[in-house]
Amino acid sequence: MKTPAVHPIEIHGYALISDDNMIAAADGFTPPTLRNEKDWEYYQNALARSDLIVFGRRSHEAEPNLRHDRRVVISRAVAGFERRADAWWWNPETYAWARVAEELLPAGGEVAAPGGQSVFDLFLRIGYSAFHLSRKRGIMLPGGHSVFSACATGRSAEDVLSDAGLHISERIPLDPEDGVEMNVWRRN
Ligand SMILES: NC(=O)c1ccc[n+]([C@@H]2O[C@H](COP(=O)([O-])OP(=O)(O)OC[C@H]3O[C@@H](n4cnc5c(N)ncnc54)[C@H](OP(=O)(O)O)[C@@H]3O)[C@@H](O)[C@H]2O)c1
Repeated sequence: MKTPAVHPIEIHGYALISDDNMIAAADGFTPPTLRNEKDWEYYQNALARSDLIVFGRRSHEAEPNLRHDRRVVISRAVAGFERRADAWWWNPETYAWARVAEELLPAGGEVAAPGGQSVFDLFLRIGYSAFHLSRKRGIMLPGGHSVFSACATGRSAEDVLSDAGLHISERIPLDPEDGVEMNVWRRN
């Protein structure tokens, strides 16, 4: 009997969070205080080498697809999965990730999941290969948007990643002068 071909797909999450696990303030936008140039550079390099990038609809609007990356946007405003001028639009509640992966990455590849919360939660269920978690010290964003919805119950981003079976494999002092450290969490 013929063995089916295996096309490995790696899923990598990327987030820069505040002390209280937020990716955006209460108004839904990331404030300048939570930005960092070194983190941005790391993130942009990662997106540029990824085979596919999956954004939440709000994050897609906050970061227009200027480089014409292979981008997927999740939204409930689409019935299933369809090609539009700016990206593929996908509703994960009606169309399985396995079908998206089969259609867009038949030979496997690296997927970047840069958020927001909807995408971070979605791939937590599907399974990350790695999560590149930067934290900027000294910033609190009360009432903001947390990286994972589970953080609303008092869990830290680290608790959530650990519960998902990931562990820290690398610590990168991205920008100590600006209080930014990245931990790369991996499954193995
Ligand atoms: N600091 C960071 O690392 C970081 C990372 C990412 C984003 N951000 C910032 O965070 C802000 C937005 O993030 P966010 O978490 O509020 O929004 P988001 O996750 O980017 O987008 C939310 C939208 O995703 C769609 N969605 C949510 N759950 C869904 C589901 N189960 N199935 C299908 N579609 C679903 C909905 O779109 P529809 O309304 O169209 O249905 C929803 O309005 C932006 O300002 C962005 O720049 C920061």
